Amino acid sequence: MSSKIVTIERHILEKQRYFPQATGELTSLLYDMALAGKMIASETRRAGLNDILGKAGTTNIYGEQQQKLDMYADSIIFKLNDHTNRVCAMASEEHEDILEIPTHYGKGNYVLLFDPLDGSTNIDVNVSVGTIFAIHRKISTGEKGTMTDMLQRGKHLVAAGYMIYGSSTMMVYSTGNGVHGFTLDPNVGEFFLSHDDIRIPEPPKFYSCNQGYEKTWTHGVRRYTKWLQGIDGEGGEPYSARYIGSMIADFHRNLLEGGVYYYPHDANKPNGKIRLLMEAQALAFIAQHAGGYGSDGVGDILDIQPHRLHQRCPLFIGNRSLVEQAENFIRQHDQDWMAQYTPYREHEVVEA
Ligand code: F6P
Repeated sequence: MSSKIVTIERHILEKQRYFPQATGELTSLLYDMALAGKMIASETRRAGLNDILGKAGTTNIYGEQQQKLDMYADSIIFKLNDHTNRVCAMASEEHEDILEIPTHYGKGNYVLLFDPLDGSTNIDVNVSVGTIFAIHRKISTGEKGTMTDMLQRGKHLVAAGYMIYGSSTMMVYSTGNGVHGFTLDPNVGEFFLSHDDIRIPEPPKFYSCNQGYEKTWTHGVRRYTKWLQGIDGEGGEPYSARYIGSMIADFHRNLLEGGVYYYPHDANKPNGKIRLLMEAQALAFIAQHAGGYGSDGVGDILDIQPHRLHQRCPLFIGNRSLVEQAENFIRQHDQDWMAQYTPYREHEVVEA
């Protein structure tokens, strides 16, 4: 018999064997996220039918209350993880504060941070969306998870991943030991290993950004973009532009094909737009373990000490060579912005 069938469960279990001290808690937590992915994928596929069956906030022809898909995804992830004894607190892009585990359930050794549905404004037009998640080990001493557990540097992540709901549903995750991708077979409801040990390819092909905002960009970001287009610098071959407006879809394409996604600082958003804890850390962790790099334009995203749950940051992510080039342009041309805005890199933890 030739190749083996590797389900996500088998893969996670086999990886766990390399860590004899592992209790299985993290393994089960990842498997719970895979289940959340299947449930959200199933609902996402029905999204277009909401126009026929009833819109969010209304009652459909079956008399069921419709929920917005991002709220649905948010509550599914919470409900699948609030009682398992694996998580001591959660944080979601949809909620201002930490989500506590109900008092009658046990508290585990991890905190789970997530963006339940990234790119959700694209759902109505049938564009790929995704779920992003990051897992930190609890470092505070009490039973409950606290802000200290949430506000950890990305380099301390124990695992991160995402699900993408596109022409097929995929889950991609890393526990710091390679990046692995699984494709959902909707007929049997199982994720199978389809992309083992993903490495971001060289040479890169694409750049992805919202060039509609060029007017508000800093000099450094403009010059960088001209460089990507082969206009600034030694007149290299231009990279091809691809921007979906759904970061997870842009990131996923660039991970598999090579390229850079950036959502930079600009005059309207001097701190950028992407959330450090629910989005940027997870994707920078994945990029790093696939041989790439995530930066805020100044340095490694994974080195930033967060000081607020919903802190935002500029993000440049993809092939290392392209991200480092962005840092060069910013260092050269955006000194004023750096002096005013990037001291956040050094902030001490502040309890919110
Ligand atoms: O997470 C923020 C996000 O929705 C990303 O998925 C996406 O790339 C970006 O914002 C789109 O923002 P804009 O419409 O400003 O380009």
